[in-house]
Parts: sequence; C-alpha cells; structure tokens
Amino acid sequence: MINEVSKRLWAIESTWNSMSDIDREQEIDAVWAFLKAYFSKTHGVDLLVKNKRLLESFKEGYASTRWHGNFPGGLWHHSILVTLKAITFVPIFHNICTLDISDVVTAAILHDIGKLGLLDNSGRIIKPHYVAVKGDPDKITYNKSIMLSHAELSAHNYSILSGDKFSFDVHNAIFFHDGAYVDGFKRAVQGNETPLMLAIHWADMFVARILKI
Ligand SMILES: [Fe+2]
Ligand SMILES: [Fe+2]
Repeated sequence: MINEVSKRLWAIESTWNSMSDIDREQEIDAVWAFLKAYFSKTHGVDLLVKNKRLLESFKEGYASTRWHGNFPGGLWHHSILVTLKAITFVPIFHNICTLDISDVVTAAILHDIGKLGLLDNSGRIIKPHYVAVKGDPDKITYNKSIMLSHAELSAHNYSILSGDKFSFDVHNAIFFHDGAYVDGFKRAVQGNETPLMLAIHWADMFVARILKI
C-alpha cells in the first residue's frame, strides 16, 4: 500500500504544475477515493465520510490568504497531499521509532482544519477563519475576532469533533504542526518532539513550501 502511495504522490508531484484545474480536481478526487478505500476505519477519514457538512466545507476552504492554496478548495488539495506525503514517512521511521499509520492519516488530514474556522461538535462553522476583504470580495483576510492561531484552532476543532476517539498524540501533532514556528514551541515541546509531530510538520512543510500546494 505504501508503494502505491509513493507512486501516486510521485505522479502528482511531477505533473501538478502542468495539470489543468480540472485534472487537478480529478487527481485529488482519486486520492480521496483511495484514502477512503484503504483507511475507511481511520478516525480522520471516518469523521469526514460521516460528516457531509464538514466535508463540503473542507472542500470549499482556503489554505491561505495569498500563498499556497489561496482559492476555494485549496485547503482540501493541501490536506490530501500532506496526508499522502506523511504516509510515505512511515517506513522511513520504521525500526527507529513507532509511527502509527492511522494516527498519521488522522493528524495529516485534519492538521489545518482550523483554517475553516471555529467549529462546533457537529462540524458547523461558528466563526470562519478567513473573511472577505471589505470592498474587495475576491480577496480574503484573517478573521480578527478569532484569537487563536490556525494550528491552535485545528487542535481545538480536532478535540471537539473526536469525542472518545480523541488521541493526545494526534492533538499535539496538530497543535505543533508548524514546529518551531509556533509560539511557545520551545517552552512546550522542544527536545520532546514526537515522531508523529515531526512527520506531520515535515510533510506539511514539503507540500506547502516546496510543492506550493
Ligand atoms: Fe498549518
Ligand atoms: Fe498545512
């Protein structure tokens, strides 16, 4: 299965820049179908499959205001590809430390769910993370009434959506997915990073900063 993930990822990485928007949508749909087939019992996938409203919001979300994925659907593209990338790290960690593939998938697919905004426990958006710029509805900016960073909000949303499936390790990997860019990282976890935290961080960095997706 991991070989299949690597092959898909390589095909996407090497052709993404030359793909049309329609091809990209089809590619992301195909990866989502693949994730649903292989990880249907994994909490993060199961949560999105069972919560259609949340999935619809996710597929309309922005990944950023002006960097990678700054269009409706950009957040979904980014999250799907971070998930694929993070899965490919599992064999790299093998024999060095334990990296649970279910936790990898859940943390990766939900790591930026705070970019939708503040959610309630049914997945409804109470306050959006991004709002339209006044006088220029084509542009978005941060919703200043939300006092949390998107990583903090993602961890919060994960907590309230997860119920008895909550995992502290997954929560922390989401909370600190920006690594040392996160305020308080030094005080909180530097020197005590977990394998999951680093896997999500580097998968995210690679997809956002190198692929710019
Ligand atoms: Fe993020
Ligand atoms: Fe991200």
